[in-house]
Amino acid sequence: MTADIPPLDDSALSYRGGQLSFENVPLADVAAAVGTPVYCYSSAVIARNYRRMAQAFSSKSPRLCYAVKANSNLAVLRLLSNLGAGAEVVSEGELRKALAAGMAPDGIVFAGVGKTRREIEFAIQSEILQFNVESEAELAMIAQAAAGLGCRAPVALRVNPDVEARTDARITTGTQGDKFGIPSSRIESVYQRACGEPSLDPLGLSVHIGSQITDLGPFRTAYEQLVSLVRALLGKGLPVARLDLGGGLGVAYSGESPPGFEEYAALVERTTGELDCELILEPGRCLVADAGVLLSRVILTKSQQSRSFVVLDAAINDLLRPALYEAHHRIVPVAEQEPGPARGVVDFVGPVCETTDTFCRDEHAPPLDPDDLVAVLTAGAYGAVMASTYNARPLVPEVLVRDRDFELIRLRETYEEMLARDSVPSWLTARDPMPPS
Ligand code: LLP
Repeated sequence: MTADIPPLDDSALSYRGGQLSFENVPLADVAAAVGTPVYCYSSAVIARNYRRMAQAFSSKSPRLCYAVKANSNLAVLRLLSNLGAGAEVVSEGELRKALAAGMAPDGIVFAGVGKTRREIEFAIQSEILQFNVESEAELAMIAQAAAGLGCRAPVALRVNPDVEARTDARITTGTQGDKFGIPSSRIESVYQRACGEPSLDPLGLSVHIGSQITDLGPFRTAYEQLVSLVRALLGKGLPVARLDLGGGLGVAYSGESPPGFEEYAALVERTTGELDCELILEPGRCLVADAGVLLSRVILTKSQQSRSFVVLDAAINDLLRPALYEAHHRIVPVAEQEPGPARGVVDFVGPVCETTDTFCRDEHAPPLDPDDLVAVLTAGAYGAVMASTYNARPLVPEVLVRDRDFELIRLRETYEEMLARDSVPSWLTARDPMPPS
């Protein structure tokens, strides 16, 4: 074990001495040092999740290509890279972040339905592991770009298996009407064509049917389909060296009971075990979601027309998931509450001028006063990465905890930086500042 990788810790988020703490850091200390809102991550939990997943799959030892979109902070990427992870990226920006964090290019998979020519060339020049190709048009673009650069691009075809992932429709990616992948019926002929292209190196197939999947059934259906496609390709004498099984394993936000890594690994073994292929997995959420909280302070409380609101200083711009997917994140007070009956029913909302700026409604919450701290739980995945500056709110900072220490891993944007991003054309400040009518 290298010195900078934290040890296993099963109860990293807990009340210690009456204060909610991540590892050995009271969250109140983070709020005092950095202010709120702020994302706070536990390096021990990320390490624990990664190690548990790797351990569950140890017999097959697939490449774990972390889905950078889940949390792309450089410190998080560096931690995962130190643990042995590769990366799955969907843009030049994510690729650059993975490389900047020290990830080896030959552990990076490039997915996504709309890679631009520039992005393709950059990825080829970076010598990534493979492109997961999502259309025939894209295959042609990659072949052309590689030919132009005088090299062969490693490609896998992403299959759209038309499988319902039984998750939220907004995060389903493998059904017929979705924009992702190439329909199963086209795979054989497209793969054959790819094998005939001198500038392409076809390596296999990939699939990803959605996210926050809490039922193994859809994975099984998709993987079985993938395996029969592989057998068909092998039957035609075409080479298939790799299978990328995607991401999507769900986590428990409030009450869900997703399968564990072992059950998932057993399913992968049952469905793909007989193939002599290298496996890739693209986990995102299950590595980082429970490793993060969004720390926020109560601004005020108000009651009107039979509803009680707790207005937080965090909002929809800091954590978009409740507004976008009606996702439920538990919210707990940072100061441990005495057990007692005095729980009210409240709506937790933010200050942004949108009714959807609501974290949750009808929550049973202990009494909360202005300035009290709360933690929005399970916010380490698809939290900070989806944050914006809507309502001219500074981009939310991030902190990484390690045992008794914590460090800012993204600074809070200052108002000066916010203002400096815009510029006013000189004609608007000239003597006659109006555009011609
Ligand atoms: N691979 C590909 C090609 C993907 O598109 C995704 C996620 C993953 C891997 C990682 O999936 P995971 O293991 O994290 O489920 N913003 C949404 C989630 C969108 C997921 C998009 N693709 C949310 O907050 O729920």
